[in-house]
Amino acid sequence: MRTETPPLIRLEDYRPSAFLIDRVNLDIVLDPHATRITADLALRPNPAGAPDGPLHLDGDDLTLVGLDLDGAPVPGADYAVDASGLTLHRPPRRPFMLRVVTEVDPTANTKLMGLYRTDGVYCTQCEADGFRRITYFLDRPDVMAVYTTRIEARREEAPVLLGNGNPVEAGPVGEDRHYAVWHDPHPKPAYLFAVVGGRLGKVEAPFRTMEGRDVTCAVYVEPGREDRAGYALDAVIRSMQWDERAFGRAYDLDVFNVVAVSAFNMGAMENKGLNIFNDKYVLAVPETATDADYANIEAIIAHEYFHNWSGNRVTCRDWFQLCLKEGLTVFRDQEFSSDMRSRPVHRIGEVRSLRARQFPEDAGPLRHPVRPNAYAEINNFYTATVYDKGAEIVRMLRTLIGPAAFRAGMDRYFADNDGRAATVEDFLAAFATVTGRDLSAFARWYERPGTPRLSAQGAYDAAARRYTLHLAQALPTEGPPLVIPVALGLVGAGGPLDGATCASAADGVFILDRIEAELVFENVTEEPVPSLLRDFSAPVRLDLALSDAQRLRLLARDSDPFNRWQAAQDVALRLILAPDAARTDAFAEALGTFLDGEALADPAFAALVLALPTEAEAADALSGDIDPDAIHRARHALRAHLGRALAPRLTRIDAALAPAEGASYSPDAASAGRRALRNAALDLMAAGDPQAGAALATRRLDAATNMTDRLAALATIAQIPGEAREAALASFGERYAHEPLVLDKWFALQATIPEEGTLARIAALKGHPAFAMTNPNRVRALIGSFSMGNPTQFARADGSGFALVADTVKALDSANPQIAARLLTAFGSWRRLEKNRRQAAAEMLNGIKAVPGLSRDVADILVRTLK
Ligand code: ARG
Ligand code: ZN
Repeated sequence: MRTETPPLIRLEDYRPSAFLIDRVNLDIVLDPHATRITADLALRPNPAGAPDGPLHLDGDDLTLVGLDLDGAPVPGADYAVDASGLTLHRPPRRPFMLRVVTEVDPTANTKLMGLYRTDGVYCTQCEADGFRRITYFLDRPDVMAVYTTRIEARREEAPVLLGNGNPVEAGPVGEDRHYAVWHDPHPKPAYLFAVVGGRLGKVEAPFRTMEGRDVTCAVYVEPGREDRAGYALDAVIRSMQWDERAFGRAYDLDVFNVVAVSAFNMGAMENKGLNIFNDKYVLAVPETATDADYANIEAIIAHEYFHNWSGNRVTCRDWFQLCLKEGLTVFRDQEFSSDMRSRPVHRIGEVRSLRARQFPEDAGPLRHPVRPNAYAEINNFYTATVYDKGAEIVRMLRTLIGPAAFRAGMDRYFADNDGRAATVEDFLAAFATVTGRDLSAFARWYERPGTPRLSAQGAYDAAARRYTLHLAQALPTEGPPLVIPVALGLVGAGGPLDGATCASAADGVFILDRIEAELVFENVTEEPVPSLLRDFSAPVRLDLALSDAQRLRLLARDSDPFNRWQAAQDVALRLILAPDAARTDAFAEALGTFLDGEALADPAFAALVLALPTEAEAADALSGDIDPDAIHRARHALRAHLGRALAPRLTRIDAALAPAEGASYSPDAASAGRRALRNAALDLMAAGDPQAGAALATRRLDAATNMTDRLAALATIAQIPGEAREAALASFGERYAHEPLVLDKWFALQATIPEEGTLARIAALKGHPAFAMTNPNRVRALIGSFSMGNPTQFARADGSGFALVADTVKALDSANPQIAARLLTAFGSWRRLEKNRRQAAAEMLNGIKAVPGLSRDVADILVRTLK
């Protein structure tokens, strides 16, 4: 059997639903194998639709137990059930009640979509299309209903019963059962529905909104882990405060619940009033969580909370509009984190992840517009492009119209679309209305795939004290130009040339809305170095030919922290792609001066300057015939050279940042920054002198009092082959044998060792008692980290690295197609590899293609990757 292109759903085919559902009353009787759902649906023809045909309700993997229309059983001849759902042949042309009784087996639900069990806890995931795995329904985001949910269970099995909205009633049922009723007054699409039932511990805190509403916020976790939920709870409260202050958005229910579960396909889910989280993004104590974990928890708690307005109160008309809620909400969580932490440091992190995940996607076969116009499987479109490039578009919009107009436009968007399922056009219309501007050219960002190139060339006329800058944009696809905000300035030998003026960039931002443009700066007193795309003002690739010396001037003198960091990255990248000892010495000297001057003043920033571009970034800079081994060798040699040259400085930093005896751990950004720099120094020292480095890292490992330092030391040791490494890995594994989230770090660390032996290591770790193919976090830690974070071993010329991932995809596909498809995206850049590796990858991909009965998820990724 051949894998065919799965059928496409197209934006242009969007039609309003023929019927609407205004109210949903659910009665859910939880049972491990036979959960029974009685759904009373208040249906009516949609005046905006065309309700003359049959009524098709979506359904997936359901057992239909009963079907009544206005209280009378529907005769068998009046309906049909197939794999896609239930069809009523002649639905009434008036409002009517439909009672649908279904049965599902949550224990057998390995797809983790719909109702499933994880560690004995019942939970749901309905986005994008999981509600149809609970009952037959119009499972589309523009059908919005008010839900009342009664949940019943054995008290012993599920003492905690949670639903959307507010709790209204609870009580016993007979001897050993109980129930709870939840009512959500806010109309919502089915993808925001959720229930939870299980044995759970909780921490809670009160919050009073600016509107005077008293809210109880709670975080539910596995009993006994309550001490690990405090940071997440605090992040909830801070998110609520921030959304009021920054966007004027208040919470709108009496309770806000967050539940952590161990098996979850994604990061978390914004179900109305009942967010469900991957426990990795909730649980944290210093002994088990790193600084990065704390930052992620803060960001994801905020992200899901912010969806309450950008996603829930205003939702998406259809799934093509996914960026409407995701891009906007990522932008909002980025702003929140920037306010909570160091803004420039956070911005650099955002851009690093954009370049690591979104740029390659936009350059490869899985490329798609931020608003796709067709999809085969929507779950494959929760991508870096929709999320992160989507956020960049919102950021550019703010740059374009200014912060005050942006805020006014957001207010307008919320006011005009509250309670509605909206589109990208509705979003832009709000800003067009408040500014009176035509945003139709700007809107092209949503339609055009690919990363634009921005090229720049400058010329200085000393006599006229004039600097002329020529800018041009190019896109990989045909079409009119994009609107690119270019934040910029000129930097002289002593710092920014503040006396220089440019009429077309008065406030430091030039809007490039043509293919090319020429900017003239007057009163330029010396030959400047241009600092372009300050704060990364647009998601483009910049082509600007500067010498190392010019770049190092930016590192030393620019006022824009982002471009200071970028300058060091650019020099390092060129040295990876074209090694040169003399230039490396000059780079080391500049880094030394930088470290002497300000490493201790802003350690978090200094740590980023010391972090060289990744191997993937280096590969991304090449157009083809990538040899990951050559990149790895070159990057490693550069690190070793810098480590030797900077050794005395690194030793001083190491000593200066040593924590005080008995100091307790705090996850705040400043403390995290000191740890980051000290650990970056350790790692660079070890690259310069592996033997001394291994010894120092071993002492650090023993002295560590928190997971950040312990894992950093172990990561340094893991790069240095030998007995010490094996002993350190073994003892870490024993120490945390009963901490799955810590073992995930341990799996990932071993999976990313850039050595031959890693494949055998992974094979052995698959047999580790804590590893389970049924838990997505375990699979991502061991196999996902390998495919995304170990370029030399994943893309081995003998194909064995590809085979490991391909075999996992095949093994996982029927049980959990979403995770299988996600893993498969690691092959996205296969065509750019050198010939042998490319051939090996093609063979693997075709091997998957030959498997009969592939899921739509995997088939979709596969077909696009091979196209
Ligand atoms: N809406 C969730 C978020 O905030 C993502 C859920 C996606 N789930 C899925 N199965 N596609 O990012
Ligand atoms: Zn989201």
